[in-house]
Amino acid sequence: MSRPAPRNFRPSLHFTAPTMWLNDPNGLVLENGRYHLYYQHYPHDTVWGPMHWGHAFSSDLYHWEHCPIAMAPDELGMIFSGSAVLDTDNVSGFGKDGKAPLLIYYTSHGDQERQSMAWSLDGGMTFTRYEGNPILDNPGIRDYRDPKVFPNPVLGGFSMAVSACDRVMFYHSRDLKHWEKTGEFGPVPELPREKYLWECPDLFPLPYEGGETWVLLASIGVYDKKDGLNFMCWTHGHFDGKTFIRDPQAKMERLDQGFDCYAGSTYWGTDRRIFLGWGNCPDYAGQTPTGEYCGQMTLPRELTLCCTESGCQLAALPCGLDSVLFAKPVSGTHLETETFCLRVQGTGAGSVTLYNENGEEVTFGIDEENRVFLDRSRATRLGIDPLFASSSICSAARPCSGPWQLDAIFDVTGLEFFTDGGTRYFSQLLFPEHPYTALRTSGAVSVQQFVPSLS
Ligand code: FRU
Repeated sequence: MSRPAPRNFRPSLHFTAPTMWLNDPNGLVLENGRYHLYYQHYPHDTVWGPMHWGHAFSSDLYHWEHCPIAMAPDELGMIFSGSAVLDTDNVSGFGKDGKAPLLIYYTSHGDQERQSMAWSLDGGMTFTRYEGNPILDNPGIRDYRDPKVFPNPVLGGFSMAVSACDRVMFYHSRDLKHWEKTGEFGPVPELPREKYLWECPDLFPLPYEGGETWVLLASIGVYDKKDGLNFMCWTHGHFDGKTFIRDPQAKMERLDQGFDCYAGSTYWGTDRRIFLGWGNCPDYAGQTPTGEYCGQMTLPRELTLCCTESGCQLAALPCGLDSVLFAKPVSGTHLETETFCLRVQGTGAGSVTLYNENGEEVTFGIDEENRVFLDRSRATRLGIDPLFASSSICSAARPCSGPWQLDAIFDVTGLEFFTDGGTRYFSQLLFPEHPYTALRTSGAVSVQQFVPSLS
């Protein structure tokens, strides 16, 4: 059961479960003004166990109302990750009295992994399992999971992306119940099958240069923990209605350059493309010192494509950047609270260090090679996990040169920060044993401090 926390690490801006284990965000859907957040949840311990779907909803993605567990394991197995669809045209036929059904798609993880569905007519609070489950049988692959359903603008109807070991498989349906395979994307040479496992795919169009381009997200698990860390990758190309075809020049890149963003997905039903990730690294998530709960989500982020000196880049900015996060300026370099934001402007190499009198400090900024970096090697005196300790420095080349701005959001457990319009984004847990109380800078850097407004 839960180990006592060395201190209260509950963040203010980041979503956490009331108690016990949480991993991936699931079933992200905007319904009736409510952003639903279902999540992988084990309600009986603070480590991973038989998976349920926990549930909460929010009208602004910052204030969350916790709801009863939405899905518990059944005769087909545990309820692994998946997605949601608001079936406004009632093509599934589950609607009643003009009420659109909310459908969820998930992996039934039993002896084998198969895809299943369930529907709700009470605004996503309770679900009825589809009698025809599983809707997709296992094709002989051990890891076959995380169905993500999205509208298919080419064939009409809907498509589903399912991760299948070293690739993504695509399926098509007109009634949201019967699915036919249409294609596959992968494997790719950068991710040899012996080393990497694809999870939680997502595919969507984003506006770009007067048209649009499609973006594929996949979380990439690493089998050998010593071999590196998990990351999210993306690439861009187009969707022909059957599969994703990446542009020949499109590189696989990281969505988040930090260590603590995994298994993310985007919302159904929003005008903007809103992303939430699991704000932990699977390798050490179970060892984090949070006590009665374990795991948090990343901040909600809006994804866009952005033109830079290095070409088309995926960019992410936290939702409510000015209205919620950088809401109230504060003067001085003393850190009065454990939830604050910093706007850092600089030219050339420069950095900011947050520190305390316990000898704990974290440094982030731009280095001599024009790379964005973060060093958490002295961030905490708590012994968390060898993999936490060994993954201490992360960095990424800026996609442009010249003066820079770095926006950082610190929220008790750690930091999310981004540069150059969100084209480089880092999520990083830190867990200082004592709060950081002050900051110092190096290089030609100015810093302004803000506190968020969560009224
Ligand atoms: C990603 C993942 C998913 C799976 C879920 C199980 O973190 O491994 O592929 O559905 O977690 O909890």
